[in-house]
This record gives sequence, structure tokens and C-alpha cells, in this order.
Amino acid sequence: MAQEVRGVIAPGKDEAVRVETIVVPDPGPGEAVVRVQACGVCHTDLHYKQGGISDDFPFLLGHEAAGVVESVGDGVTDVAPGDFVILNWRAVCGNCRACLRGRPWYCFATHNAGQKMTLAATGQELSPALGIGAFAEKTLVAAGQCTKVDPSVAPAVAGLLGCGVMAGIGAAINTGNVGRGDSVAVIGCGGVGDAAVAGSHLAGAAKIIAVDIDDRKLEKARSMGATHTINSRETDPVEAIRELTGGFGADVVIEAVGRPETYKQAFYARDLAGTVVLVGVPTPEMKLELPLLDVFGRGGALKSSWYGDCLPSRDFPMLIDLHLQGRLDLAAFVTETIELTDVEKAFERMHQGDVLRSVVVF
Ligand code: APR
Ligand code: ZN
Ligand code: ZN
Repeated sequence: MAQEVRGVIAPGKDEAVRVETIVVPDPGPGEAVVRVQACGVCHTDLHYKQGGISDDFPFLLGHEAAGVVESVGDGVTDVAPGDFVILNWRAVCGNCRACLRGRPWYCFATHNAGQKMTLAATGQELSPALGIGAFAEKTLVAAGQCTKVDPSVAPAVAGLLGCGVMAGIGAAINTGNVGRGDSVAVIGCGGVGDAAVAGSHLAGAAKIIAVDIDDRKLEKARSMGATHTINSRETDPVEAIRELTGGFGADVVIEAVGRPETYKQAFYARDLAGTVVLVGVPTPEMKLELPLLDVFGRGGALKSSWYGDCLPSRDFPMLIDLHLQGRLDLAAFVTETIELTDVEKAFERMHQGDVLRSVVVF
């Protein structure tokens, strides 16, 4: 039986979001209905609301979520009703060239449940944000978007791995291959950058240099494991990073802002044979000009990181276990828990840089 629940809708470009009654159908073959327990507020939700990602309004927002599987459709064997799961953007196929080469987020055949949920009042189809739509009491997803994890973790903490925190930790441990004794610089210490700091700390990096233009962010980064901090409004970060690394530059530089000047800093702040990991997403008009001789002369690797190059089935349970063992403080990313009706206000706080994550709990 289709069910009616409350969900946060972005009705049109730049319009305030609002809570509406939505219809969630029964799961079809390969699908699951999840009772959402917590969902974080991410910049991408704001970008959807602003029309920056697609014109497919109305959107059902929310995509950093954890909850309990309520029902599954035919052919679903990996999850069952009652399982505690973290949701991911799309089920990856596991078989294409990208999956087989260990880059599942470049998979050619990802899928989600599509646009099957509707607005109760008008019957209009809803576009779920990142194929999830979890600012809702229940949501319909592909079963492959659900990963079982230890149910003793708080849902507000677990859900964070569904997006920003996984992107940052994965940028360090998967894309950057940060290892014991490495020096790492993280440029931009919002939620994603701080997660890259925490991931580098987890991986055993000896030096973790946090760079930001806001001293509040640098202080927070220190609590996440940064050993040095640089305010790049006051100090040239490239010179400071070189100075802190014996004149060489960092083994791994992680860029988590998404702007030309910080891309350039990342490029020049690495050791000649080091790795640059780009996590910050630029806008289409941004350009970077570099002398070709520098591109040629500075070997190493320039990599972008999608969703932290994570494999949810491998990484979600592992990171939750590390959190439960006290070795990775995922709870530090939750600034506040809020009601479903407070998402619009949470966007404002995010815009002011006051929060790492506001999380809706149900
Ligand atoms: N130099 C250094 N830090 C900067 C600069 C700059 N020029 N400009 C902004 N910052 C800092 C901000 O002060 C903030 O702490 O970058 C941080 C950005 O953090 P958030 O706005 O919280 O964004 P976050 O969610 O962490 O995402 C960062 O990663 O995945 C991508 O799309 C995401 O592009 C975004 C980036
Ligand atoms: Zn694939
Ligand atoms: Zn997100």
C-alpha cells in the first residue's frame, strides 16, 4: 500500500523549501522503502533549491541519511526489513570497466529508484535529491543504495557518511592514499575538509596542515587532528606549507574549496612527486592557467575525488566500526540536530559558516 508521509520540497528555483505530504509507493523489484531516522543538511541540497543542479523541480531534498529498511521488493537479498542502513547516491553495478578498476563513482551503470514518489496534493512526480530524497519520514530507493552497518551507532552520526564526511575521509584514505608518516595539507576546512583532516589522522599522517581563511574553522580542524594551521588571508599558504615540510611541499594536498586560487595553491604546495586530490567542486566558468613547464616539471599526480572514491559496502561499515571503537570521532561533525520544519533555517546557518552539519532527526 502506498503511504503518505511528510517531506521537505523545493518547489521552484530560489523558492523557500516547505514541508508537504508526499506519497511513497510500495517497493518494486530491486527496491526498498526506508524509514528515515536522520538526514544531514548538505550544500548540495541548497544547490538543488537554487536550481544549480537541474531544472527538474519539484525536488524532494535530503541525501545524507540513515534509517531502517521497512519493506523490500522482489529479488532483494542484500537487505531485509529491520536492517539499519546508510543510504548512498546510486547503486553501482560492480561490473563495468570503472567498477572493475576500483573507481566505482565513475560507474557507467549506476541507478536509483527514479521519480516514483509524488506530491499528495497534485500527484506531481518528485525528483529525489541525489536519487535519495531523505528529508522525509520514508523514502523509496534502489536496494543497492542501502548499506547495512552496526545499529548501535546514533542515526544522526551514521547518516553523515552518506555524503560530505565520506567524501572528505575518502579523499584522504582512498584517492590520496595517505599513509603512515605522510605530510598532508588540507585547503578549506568546512565539513569536507575537516573530514579529510580526520581521515589523514586515521591513516597515520605525521603532519596535517589545515588551511582556511576563517580562524573558527582552523580551531575546529585542530580538534579533528590538524597539527598545524595556516590562515591564508594572512600568510601565503604555499610558502608556509613548504616551510613546514623541509622545503619540499606536502606528500598529499587535498583541495576542499573548489576555486581557481585554491586549486593553484594545491598544485604548488605539493612535493614534486606528491599527489593533489581535488574534492572542491568548481563552477563551469572557472578556469586555471598554469605554465606548462610547471605541469611537466612537477611530476606526481593530480586526481579528482568523487564521493571519496568510496565503496559503500566496504567503507561504511568499517568507518562506523572505527567510530564505535573510539578511533574516529564522527559525532564531532554534528553541530546541531533539528526538526524537519527547520531545513530552511539550517540553510541560512550553513551560509553564514556557523555549522559543520545540521542534522534532521525523526
Ligand atoms: N582559501 C581557503 N579556504 C577557503 C577559501 C580560500 N580562498 N574560501 C573558502 N574557504 C573555506 C571556508 O572558510 C570554509 O571553511 O573553505 C571551507 C568550505 O567549507 P564549506 O563551505 O563548509 O563546504 P564543504 O561542505 O566543506 O564543501 C567543500 O567540497 O565536496 C565539495 O561541493 C563541495 O565544493 C565543496 C567543497
Ligand atoms: Zn559499474
Ligand atoms: Zn551532500
